[in-house]
Amino acid sequence: MTDRRPIVGGNWKMNTDRDTADRLARDVAVACADAVADRDIIVFPPFPYLEAVRNALGSSGVRLGAQDVYHEANGAYTGEVSVAMLLDLDVSHVIIGHSERRHVIGESDNLINAKVRAALDGGLEVVLCVGETLEQREAGETEAVTLAQVRAGLDGIDPNDLKRLILAYEPVWAIGTGRTATADDAQTVHAAIRAELSRRYDNTSADTIRIQYGGSVKPDNAGELFARPDIDGGLIGGASLNADHFASIVSAAGVAAGDRV
Ligand code: 13P
Repeated sequence: MTDRRPIVGGNWKMNTDRDTADRLARDVAVACADAVADRDIIVFPPFPYLEAVRNALGSSGVRLGAQDVYHEANGAYTGEVSVAMLLDLDVSHVIIGHSERRHVIGESDNLINAKVRAALDGGLEVVLCVGETLEQREAGETEAVTLAQVRAGLDGIDPNDLKRLILAYEPVWAIGTGRTATADDAQTVHAAIRAELSRRYDNTSADTIRIQYGGSVKPDNAGELFARPDIDGGLIGGASLNADHFASIVSAAGVAAGDRV
């Protein structure tokens, strides 16, 4: 039994244009109007559309997130976006350490940790992503890799800031591939992450931190995943680009939370 509030994020990645972002945000706001009362729902549009999406979401209660941030406050960092800039646009959440940034862009654990620190210091809520590659899974390194990413990402983080931290377990091989980790596989890793948080901090923090699952979550598999005791919601890529599919995943999170109590 847990009173962790379910959390579902829509990571739009590098998709949409201004019109489709605006339409999608309006549709999500309507479709999730009731859900915001007992679930955290966040959309993460591309940077250029943050303001348009903020306006489209209006007072719906669906929160605005960014897909990345840079750790420096300002200066000669061409192409980067600061915490203050995000706050200026009413962004409340930021994804850090997504596997596409780790593996496609080449971000290191050190850089990710610097970003986590800066974002938490600035008052944002952070979704820190961790997860193994297929090669690492096949080599039996899933937990070692994932927990090392958790440790590195949270290095030096003040326990008081954990209230604004969310973890997302996203096995790289399950992202955008249609291959989902089985609910049991995901639960095993989520439980291992929670145990690591308990060792690193304390039981209360470990019990309170929400851990989302991400990787080919769809309306037809969300319910089974979210029913597991340590899976507190999802970070949704492809299916978040369709408001009906996203809303049905949000609804599955509500049903699972109701069943857990
Ligand atoms: P998909 O849902 O498209 O597999 O993407 C998951 C993801 O990377 C969310 O951050």
